Amino acid sequence: MNTHQRLLVIDFGSQVTQLIARRLRELGVYCEIHPYQNVTPDFLTRFTPWAIILSGGPASVLDSDPPCPPKEVFSQNAPVLGICYGQQVMVQMLGGKVERGRRIGNGEISDPAIGDVFAGPSGSRVNSEFGRAYITSKGALPLLEGWFGEPTEQVWMSHGDHVAELPPGFEVFGVSSKAPFAVVADVRRGFYAVQFHPEVHHTPNGKRLLENFVRMAGFTGDWSMGAYRDEAINRIRREVGDSKVVCALSGGVDSAVAAKLVHEAIGDSVTCVFVDHGLLRKDEAEEVIGMFRDHFNIPLIHADESDLFLSELKGVTDPETKRKTIGRLFIDVFRRHAAAVGGAGFLAQGTLYPDVIESVSFSGEPSVTIKSHHNVGGLPERLGLKLVEPLRELFKDEVRALGREIGLPERFIGRHPFPGPGLAIRCPGEITRAKLEILRNADAVYIDQIRRHGLYGEIWQAFVVLLPVRTVGVMGDGRTYDYVCAIRAVTSVDGMTADSYPLSHEFLAETATRIVNEVSGINRVVHDITSKPPGTIEWE
Ligand code: XMP
Repeated sequence: MNTHQRLLVIDFGSQVTQLIARRLRELGVYCEIHPYQNVTPDFLTRFTPWAIILSGGPASVLDSDPPCPPKEVFSQNAPVLGICYGQQVMVQMLGGKVERGRRIGNGEISDPAIGDVFAGPSGSRVNSEFGRAYITSKGALPLLEGWFGEPTEQVWMSHGDHVAELPPGFEVFGVSSKAPFAVVADVRRGFYAVQFHPEVHHTPNGKRLLENFVRMAGFTGDWSMGAYRDEAINRIRREVGDSKVVCALSGGVDSAVAAKLVHEAIGDSVTCVFVDHGLLRKDEAEEVIGMFRDHFNIPLIHADESDLFLSELKGVTDPETKRKTIGRLFIDVFRRHAAAVGGAGFLAQGTLYPDVIESVSFSGEPSVTIKSHHNVGGLPERLGLKLVEPLRELFKDEVRALGREIGLPERFIGRHPFPGPGLAIRCPGEITRAKLEILRNADAVYIDQIRRHGLYGEIWQAFVVLLPVRTVGVMGDGRTYDYVCAIRAVTSVDGMTADSYPLSHEFLAETATRIVNEVSGINRVVHDITSKPPGTIEWE
């Protein structure tokens, strides 16, 4: 563990627990999320939290055997903040009473205004106070410093049960029209509990509440990217020793930051392997090689294997077969090139914190949610290599901040995500070199349009899909019979859900004209405006 002042978030399964961590990291506070099942008294001793937050969750403390933290969380000499379910569990464990709200089944509630972030197992809509509510002060409390500039504060409620009787030592500091115990605290012992979610944007002053909490706990905001960079470099040196390291460079931000950081730590003992499967965007390989090999002087193998990949993909139309074929070949190819490095003991990967957070699962034990398609799944075992993952503690926006800290160019850091199987999954049907060329050219025009109109930074992902459909058109005096392409632009926070970006009609018309005029092989452009769900971001 690192030496930062640390805050422990105990997760009871709320879909928004990660937001607590994000808000805290924004405040310069190092925190970790752990599922309640893993938080044992021993764990607490090892972790030595400066403060503890009990998250929300879909369960009810009135169920038989409800999720609970060990009672030792209340004897750590650290302030505790309970949020929503966390409030109820705190109240119940300390001798108060919780009553069941009128609701159907268990669960935090889904609300259309904020997507499905609160969807619990039942997902049913209920009465009580859900969604926007307004809190009135019932007495000064340091936790609420900076609140009540207006007589009431907007908050976001989302739980059916409610506190009915306070534990000894607790007082009420905030109420809403339907929640007489919206903010309660035992100030002497440093226990605070709120019925609403301070971590969501719909509680506009929520971050201030969290800030007050961590300042009261003594946090000085010692989590910064500069400090992280120095620590990460030292840690990589300790972990790796004199071994050689190989790093799979994909062209994405995560692997680029990981590679550059490892290079800063151990210099030329790291070799990057850039597998070029022939499914990259226009000029992408040249950009990556130019930056890493020529600009940063990092040893890099450019494995140009497009012939191999495209010949194996010949005739393949099923999306899953495409992915599997690409995944299998990638491992083979990487293995071959990594072996050529000779004597490597470690594989560096850009795994991020959201990929490794153990989530609370109500069907059984906590499960590690590794998005295997984002990583080089199975590689370390097959290569007999140990892993070094210098970004394991970071969220995506923190990786970008670290990228800036270590001098990656802004244009590279802000790049839209690009899937591992590349253009293969943007070319439904059979993949051919000719089609890929058309797709690359169209994509380049579209992205150029997005950049020219200043939209790139507002969009999570924008891309072209080449449809396996040809239509009749007319250009000049002639009839054309060419491909149709779809353009897509989405906003998203994490790729799990997405909305179509509202491109203006003028923009769309201009873009369609440019693509049809500048890209030979396309004579029609359509616009995909499907959200996720029910669609996915990619087409395959
Ligand atoms: P979907 O299409 O599942 O995509 O809505 C969600 C996000 O994940 C990316 N994606 C992938 N990334 N390997 C990757 O590295 C893959 O196989 C893959 N499939 C989808 C997608 O681009 C989007 O950002």
